Formats: sequence, structure tokens, C-alpha cells
Amino acid sequence: MRYKLAGLFITSACLLSAADKVTFSENIAPIVYENCVTCHRPGEAAPFALISYDDVKKRGSLIASVTKSRYMPPWHAAHGYGEFAAERRLSDEQIAMIGAWVKDGMPQGDPAKMPKVPQFTEGWHLGKPDLILQMPAGFDLPASGPDVYRNFVIPTGLTEDKWVRAVEFRPSARKVVHHVLYAWVSGGSLPRQNGADGKPGFGGMGTVGVVPGQGGGSLGGWAVGNTPVFLPDGLALPLPKGADFVLQMHFHLTGKAETEQSTVGIYFADKPPEKQLFAAQAPALFGFGAGLDIPAGKKDYTIEGALTLPADVMAYSVGAHAHYVGKDIKATATLPDGTVKPILWIPDWDFAWQDRYNYKDPVFLPKGTRMDVRIVYDNSADNPRNPSNPPKRVLWGEQSTDEMGSVTMQVVAVHKEDEPVLQKFFTERTQEAIQAGIQNGTAKRFMQQHQAER
Ligand code: HEC
Repeated sequence: MRYKLAGLFITSACLLSAADKVTFSENIAPIVYENCVTCHRPGEAAPFALISYDDVKKRGSLIASVTKSRYMPPWHAAHGYGEFAAERRLSDEQIAMIGAWVKDGMPQGDPAKMPKVPQFTEGWHLGKPDLILQMPAGFDLPASGPDVYRNFVIPTGLTEDKWVRAVEFRPSARKVVHHVLYAWVSGGSLPRQNGADGKPGFGGMGTVGVVPGQGGGSLGGWAVGNTPVFLPDGLALPLPKGADFVLQMHFHLTGKAETEQSTVGIYFADKPPEKQLFAAQAPALFGFGAGLDIPAGKKDYTIEGALTLPADVMAYSVGAHAHYVGKDIKATATLPDGTVKPILWIPDWDFAWQDRYNYKDPVFLPKGTRMDVRIVYDNSADNPRNPSNPPKRVLWGEQSTDEMGSVTMQVVAVHKEDEPVLQKFFTERTQEAIQAGIQNGTAKRFMQQHQAER
């Protein structure tokens, strides 16, 4: 009897520890397939695949350290500061499990227990697009060197005004493309042919639509690891007849010469949207009027911007913009009753990750809500991302060595009849920013720089 009991005890203890043993097949592969493989697979921008046992084992200790520090999966919005959809984040338990597995010598376990390798759509994710545009010529990229920013202008040939529900981007050399911003400009307002260097497109990272008097608007963007999505029901962005489509691309060179000739698929709405999307941006116009002037070596140069909403709105998504010395970007909403709501906080801004963050549920912001934005720049030599060594004075501009700064919420009016109020409000803010930029010299410098680019 005693023996039996003891035997039983020992057996169950063994079972327990066998079940507790972390193996690749049963515990690690599911985490990696769900959280890493979108980027870490052949042809994607991550530098290596993480699919097989050997792939993961080979980099086990690095994986344990980059997951523990939360460097991977990449996600720059502070957790818990705003509730976002599709947040790329491992749980504390998952991180601990990876650590335990590595410490335990990375056992493979039973290969029969492996989860299925995720399948990714090869063709269009969102189905057949209504309009397909392609860069007229390939753009050659060298094997190595600094990051390249290039704008490509493609005529749409549209003979009537359209409304865009989604844009899907298909690069020909996916590995070299880090992110893309889409916009439209009125037909012919930007050069469609080769730039001053004789290559297709033109350089610079000026935000399209910033040039005073130039018609145009944003159509969203794509960054490494993103899957295209439709705008929420009933929403769409305008793409007027005769417009040119602009791709502003950021290339991160791969060690191999590549040629990129991207294709974009555009999905139209059947009818005009029920509601207009507005960009609630502070400071306005990417900081054009903010008088950005960051002394060389300055560690915590700060600009602030604010706006008070003239009507009730719903916010769908939020994004931030700065270049390389941008460091800490934070936006809050103070409601008329004094409640403070988080909008977005990026405590360690990284230009390489221009994500747009979609709220899990749209955020209601009543009339009279004040949106406050604070952007801190680190222009010291301690900032590893500082493109100038030794640091140089940094002004507002479109080169990677210049700066910009803003936070933009995508909002719609809660009451349709408030749309003209919002339209007027945002237009006036832009005009004020242009006036401020003319007065502080930003406009003149920008136009000169812009001419030299073309
Ligand atoms: C959204 C795309 C994306 C996802 C998701 C992603 N990675 Fe990465 N990963 C990258 C890119 C791009 C790089 C290379 C550039 C960099 O270091 O930022 C990288 C680099 C790495 C590195 C090398 C870091 C170094 O210091 O050299 C490791 C290790 C890594 N990832 C592991 C993971 C693991 C583990 C996961 C899942 C838990 C993951 N990544 C999820 C895109 C991604």
C-alpha cells in the first residue's frame, strides 16, 4: 500500500514535470508563429526567418533578450496608454516561457505536436482592387549606404471623383522597403518624371501636402509587418479626378543591390462616405509654424501644441511624426469636465516605425476637449539615432537631418451638421501655421530647399 502510494506520487510528479517542460513544438513555436513570422519569413524586411526549430534555436539567447527588453516584437506606443487594436505585444508569461526554454537548453519536443506554419496570401489581401497603379519604371537601390527616401508620382487617370476605402501596397523587392506613405496631389503639381539625379522620382521626406497652396491629402501608409485593412464602415478618403497618386518610400538597404517597382491596389467605396474624416493635428502642419530650432547638443528640446475641439468627435486612429532626433512624443485629451484621457505616448520614438495606431474602440471626445501634444528632441551625441556626428543645429525641413513634429488623430464629427465647423477650424489652423512659418523664416527656407530637390 505504502509502496503503491509512493509509486503513484512519483509517477504523477514525473508527469507534472514532463508537462511543465517547455518545448519548441508545444510552447515556443505557437508564440513565434503568432507574433514573429509576419515579418520573420523569407522575403520580408526582418533580417532572418524564424520558422523552423533550427532558425529559432540558432538565435535563442538573442531572442530571449530582445523579447525580455520588449525590443521585439516592435511596438512603440506605450502599453496601457490608449487601447489599440492588433497591439504587437507578448504577455509576461510568454516572455518568461521563452526565457525558461532557452535556459533549459532549448529542447525541441515532439515534432508531431508542431502547430501549422501560418500561410500568407500571395496575391491581393483585400481581393481584386478597383484601380491598380504601378511605378512606371524601376528604381535602382545600391547594396549598402544610408537609408533612401524617395517620392514617386503616378497619374491615376481618373475621370471622376472617387472615395478610397483602402490602399494595398505590393513592393517588387519587399525586403528593401521599410515603410511607405500614400497621398494624392492635384494632377501635374509634382514632377512625374526623373529627379535632378536622373533617376525616377525625387528625394526628400517632406510631407506631401505641406507645400502652401498645393492641393492634396493623405491616403494612409504601410510599414513592415502591416496587413492592409479597410477603413471602418461608412468612411473613405477623397481621391479627386485627375489626381496623381504619390508614394513616399523609405528604403533600408539590404547588402544586395535591388530594384523596386511597386504596385498599389486601390479600393473604392460605392458611394460618398456618410461622414468626412478630419485630421486633428497638433502642432498644425507637422510643426511648420512651431519655430523648431534645436541647438546642437541640446538633450531635451521641447515643443508643444494644442487644439480645443469645436464639436463632438469620435477618434479612430492616431499617429505621430518626427525624424531622427525626435525622442518622446505624448498626447493627452483633457475633457471639459477635467477628465484626462490618454491619446498616444511613444516614449522612445524611432523614425523607422511610422505606425498608425487604430483604437480598439473609437474614442469619444466631446466639444471643448483640449488635445495637448508635447514632443521632446534629443540632439545630443548621446542619441544613437542622431544623423549628425558631431550634432548640428536642427531646423524644420524635409531632409532626414531636419526635423518635424506632430501628432495626428483621425476623427469624424459625431453630428453630421458639425462638419462645416470642423472643416473651418482645421483649415484656419493650417493657415495660421503657414502664417507663423512665413514670419519665422521656415517657409522661405523650405521653398528654397524644395526647389533644390527637384
Ligand atoms: C513588425 C515586424 C516584426 C515582428 C512582428 C517581429 N520582428 Fe524581429 N525584427 C524585425 C526587423 C525589421 C528587424 C531588424 C531591424 C531591427 O532590429 O529593428 C528585427 C530584428 C530582430 C532580431 C535581431 C535583433 C538584433 O539586435 O540583431 C531578433 C532576435 C528578432 N527580431 C526577434 C523577433 C521575435 C522573437 C519576434 C516575435 C516575438 C519578432 N522579432 C517579431 C521585424 C519584426
